[in-house]
Amino acid sequence: MQAVDLTERRLVVAANRGPVSFHDDPSGEPVVTRGPGGLVTVLTEVLRHHPGAWVAAALSDAERRLAAEERAVEVALDGEVYRVRYVAPSRAAYHKYYNVVSNPMLWFIQHYLWDLGRHPDIRAEEMDAWHNGYVPVNGLFAKAVIDEVRGGRDGRRRRDQACDGSDALVLLHDYQLYLVAPEVRAACPGTFLHQFVHIPWPQSDYWRVLPEHIRESVFRGLLGNDVVAFHTRHYVRNFLRCCEYLLELEVDQASCTVRCDGREVWVRAYPVSIDPASLRAAADSRRARTAERALRSRRREFLLLRVDRMDLSKNIIRGFAALDRFLELHPEFKERLTFLALLQPSRQDVEEYVTYRERVERIVADVNTRHGTVDWMPIDLRIQDDFPVTLAAYAQYDVLFVNAISDGMNLVAKEGPVLNRHDGVLVLSEYAGAYEELGAFAIGVNPFNIEGQAEALFRALTMSPEERADRAGMLSRVVEENSVEKWVQAQFADIAAKLAAGC
Ligand code: G6P
Repeated sequence: MQAVDLTERRLVVAANRGPVSFHDDPSGEPVVTRGPGGLVTVLTEVLRHHPGAWVAAALSDAERRLAAEERAVEVALDGEVYRVRYVAPSRAAYHKYYNVVSNPMLWFIQHYLWDLGRHPDIRAEEMDAWHNGYVPVNGLFAKAVIDEVRGGRDGRRRRDQACDGSDALVLLHDYQLYLVAPEVRAACPGTFLHQFVHIPWPQSDYWRVLPEHIRESVFRGLLGNDVVAFHTRHYVRNFLRCCEYLLELEVDQASCTVRCDGREVWVRAYPVSIDPASLRAAADSRRARTAERALRSRRREFLLLRVDRMDLSKNIIRGFAALDRFLELHPEFKERLTFLALLQPSRQDVEEYVTYRERVERIVADVNTRHGTVDWMPIDLRIQDDFPVTLAAYAQYDVLFVNAISDGMNLVAKEGPVLNRHDGVLVLSEYAGAYEELGAFAIGVNPFNIEGQAEALFRALTMSPEERADRAGMLSRVVEENSVEKWVQAQFADIAAKLAAGC
């Protein structure tokens, strides 16, 4: 087998969000900040490994203006230079694609969040959102990717020239872009196409929620890639079974491959991670240190912490119900602990998220009223997006609480142990992707079992210092030894292997 040099390939990355956000300041001048979310951080790592263009949706007026240029623009931020190409769907199409189909429809299916006796109703609005939102927005992404695949290495355009893409590598990311690969393959059949699904892949029956033609499009879209990647082996198995049961395709469970339209698609697991060194550098910033001093001066004997986007999949309400139960069972812990909940606002244009936020605020008020005293409240709820405070809290927690109903990976479970200085205990949902790597050193919980979560809190808070130290040491070791760099390298190694194998 001949080795393949991927550095020769032009890289095009596509994800709904870009690496940077452009906004107009009050004087109309564009301001650039880093794009939000963990996905942006890990894709930045990919581009550090192999520079390329990044195709993303224009979310602000400033980005819409850049989209009109129909080319990748260079942006410098924090010492890195990015080439970003924006696509600008109409606001109506973007709403249908993002707020109706991607979230909640696909997100809820993939995290098992639909309460099937009651939801979802697939009516004209949802069908319209698919046909006039998700499909055309994916088409716009495909068009921009094709254009970048055909763009000259030196930046000169060769759009009109025939180009089969055999010098290009396209990395598509996530559930917003399931339909992009086949269009790129049809236009540039030599392109190597790779798609990473960062969220869970549920069992086949749950996919039956979607009308058959939509489901088929999702699967056929993903199978338009050469490699389909997930965070865990469990999602790989689910995906392979779906291909067998729902599409009746030829699947080889042993080699994790699917035969589709005469091609062999590799289905692989690469557990994403973090970059411990840059996390430590961020924790050493002045703002993070100031935040930590503030936290330390107010902390009680024990600090319980959760850090999440305000999302139903994170299971925030059952977490507070578990604290309520724990305080009922163990009143001796009253006034000795604080449960700090750092929750970033998310998707507030989607009704389910607005209602969820209200329910979270209500249970916090209830639990605080039930157990609080004149100068103590058990829950300190902060709905905010303040990374320095998060870093400070990571350093200080005694228990890090992650009880997600379902979660692609959950990077909080990896960030916390690297920064923590209290030999903190990780309480971790068995249904978070991170459980495959970290479960052995965490206290595992079933996310639906509130009684079990209350017991887990008790176990964590009464664990001997020796056991805490052992477990904390192992958690940070596992993360240190499996950094995001390894995640990138493993994917590139498989891409090179598949190219070399010529399948
Ligand atoms: C989480 C998931 C990512 C996903 C992102 C979308 O971070 O892990 O896989 O792409 O949510 O969030 P957004 O705020 O862009 O809807």
